[in-house]
Amino acid sequence: MEQLAQIVAEAPARLASVADLAELETLEAELVGRRSVLAELQRNIGSLPPERRPEVGRALQQARAELERLISRRRAELEREAENLLLEDDRVDVTLEAYRLPGGGEHLIQQTIEEVCEIFIGLGYVVATGPEAELGYYNFDALNTPPTHPSRLESDTLYLDWGDPADEVLLRTHTSPMQARFMEAHDPPVYVVVPGKVYRADTPDATHSPVFHQIEGLAVDRNITMSDLKGTLAHFAREFFGPGQRIRLLPHFFPFTEPSAEMHAACFHCEGNGTSCRVCGGSGWIELMGCGMVDPAVFEAVGYDPGDVTGFAFGMGVERLAQVRHGLSPIRHVFENDVRVLRQFRGIA
Ligand code: DAH
Repeated sequence: MEQLAQIVAEAPARLASVADLAELETLEAELVGRRSVLAELQRNIGSLPPERRPEVGRALQQARAELERLISRRRAELEREAENLLLEDDRVDVTLEAYRLPGGGEHLIQQTIEEVCEIFIGLGYVVATGPEAELGYYNFDALNTPPTHPSRLESDTLYLDWGDPADEVLLRTHTSPMQARFMEAHDPPVYVVVPGKVYRADTPDATHSPVFHQIEGLAVDRNITMSDLKGTLAHFAREFFGPGQRIRLLPHFFPFTEPSAEMHAACFHCEGNGTSCRVCGGSGWIELMGCGMVDPAVFEAVGYDPGDVTGFAFGMGVERLAQVRHGLSPIRHVFENDVRVLRQFRGIA
């Protein structure tokens, strides 16, 4: 009993010195476990004279109760400490600066396409797209371009399936085939713009690339005249370049329009005054697109009645528009995707 009294007396200090729950388990086994001094005494109680048993039994019971109280108090303490440690470890420092990803932006060409389309959407046009692998029929025949036309030579056009003009497949050389496709699929009136990639058998240099972008336009309705064409293109030029922008139409030839014209914009750099202007070369004008009144043969090819409707069409080069507007040359800058170049045109539109 003396030994037990000492164990109980020392217990608070020993419990205080355990560092964690695992150590507490070990000490608990030693103090009150099946092989503890206390358990041993409780097991041997039967060997005492019967009159002493109740008194010793009660003392042992009290000692056990005291030890268990001390142990559970220490356990609660250690559990709280462990929990705090866990919370401490788990803490997220929300004041840390986030890792910044470099912001992306739309490519100059895409920005230009969207800006041009927006201008025509404002005039009631819809936007359509078509296949880049195109039938010779739509790229040429439906557009009044005969099999003997020089642009159909392999030296100009990239063919995927070459041979009989009736079913040849090629990489479209312009967005104009969508004129025919769109009219075949829709009754007049038609007001549509068609952005997309086009391909030519060109060797890349400062002004040529085997792939570039065009935006086609087509308006077909009753009583459309050449003044509608000129007014529409003048409006486009003012929206795209600025309110004072002037344009002119110069006679030209395209198989699918009659009459046909080249549309020029007044050089925004020298306004026609600079004989050695680096933008227009001194002419004062910059060629921007081909255009004209839709040839009746094209209407016939798509099943429209040329006696009932008239229309105009135009096709512009997107790289050219972007280059002219930003003084960007050579054309490869647009395709190389050097971020030092692209960054300069982030969100300009
Ligand atoms: N498709 C012509 C080209 O690529 C451009 C063009 C000229 C389109 C006259 C037209 C047009 O719609 O009417 O050179």
